[in-house]
Amino acid sequence: MRKRKKKIAGLNGGYVMPTSFASSPKSDSGLLKVQISAPLNGSGSANAFVYSPTEPGGLGHSRSWFTYEELVEATNGFSVQNLLGEGGFGCVYKGYLPDGREIAVKQLKIGGGQGEREFKAEVEIISRIHHRHLVSLVGYCISQNQRLLVYDYVSNNNLCFHLHGEGRSVLDWATRVKVAAGAARGLAYLHEDCHPRIIHRDIKSSNILLDNNLEARVSDFGLAKLALDTNSHVTTRVMGTFGYMAPEYASSGKLTEKSDVFSFGVVLLELITGRKPVDASQPLGDESLVEWVSYESDLLTVLLLLNQP
Ligand SMILES: Nc1ncnc2c1ncn2[C@@H]1O[C@H](COP(=O)(O)OP(=O)(O)OP(=O)(O)O)[C@@H](O)[C@H]1O
Ligand SMILES: [Mg+2]
Repeated sequence: MRKRKKKIAGLNGGYVMPTSFASSPKSDSGLLKVQISAPLNGSGSANAFVYSPTEPGGLGHSRSWFTYEELVEATNGFSVQNLLGEGGFGCVYKGYLPDGREIAVKQLKIGGGQGEREFKAEVEIISRIHHRHLVSLVGYCISQNQRLLVYDYVSNNNLCFHLHGEGRSVLDWATRVKVAAGAARGLAYLHEDCHPRIIHRDIKSSNILLDNNLEARVSDFGLAKLALDTNSHVTTRVMGTFGYMAPEYASSGKLTEKSDVFSFGVVLLELITGRKPVDASQPLGDESLVEWVSYESDLLTVLLLLNQP
């Protein structure tokens, strides 16, 4: 087990499922149904197949769903020893498929009987996206009110842990650059090579997983939207994480891929400065990384201007 219990920093682990914009425009409605132009294999595609329990280790696409019992078995009954952590959508457990393949099972909190068709449709789409810098969705499970997602297991925790985890040695500069470039490639694939484009909606350091070679794999793309769509009684909400959210998205709900780019910019600042996006231990006014950086850069500009001959 890597990490038993993840942060619950601030509200819901920093996750924002906040303001119901009752009267806000459903501005991203045109983007709600993502479709992928087939075939979707990213350059250097890693796991370009959907696991089929009927064909052990199979390369077929015959079955991307799991029974609940299969996942109970895989995760040792969702035991606490297998718990990898908990995010805004629920707990994540490490598991093993009968052929030995390692998986991460996310038990979604969304539940409810609604949105089963939407859930299936979107999960099928996401499970067709494969790229070496994205975490592949292996399959899903729908069992009564339960919704579970099965991902490829990525072995070396996430960027947030490597940057801010207690007692961690400092990440060297070359690794930071490699992680930034890898995550950028994964994100660019979602924005530019999927049609229509996929907006991640929750880019942050904990959603950038690292493999044993410290290569970045962006996780949880499409998840925020999936949670929205399957909770059909809540249609217009802003979803994201404090400290990373683009201001125009937070204030108006207007969503474009630029919102992801803003959040990715925050990850870059995090990589460059080693500071958390929101850090309550900083002096008053300096808690937000974005505000701190803009203040520092304003100050630098003033100093440079004052130094002009
Ligand atoms: N595919 C995976 N392989 C290995 N570990 C994973 C995988 N997916 C998630 N984890 C780990 O499980 C823990 C919980 O992840 P989770 O995605 O639920 O939280 P989060 O990323 O902080 O928040 P969010 O719900 O907004 O994505 C994290 O420590 C994460 O690194
Ligand atoms: Mg996550």
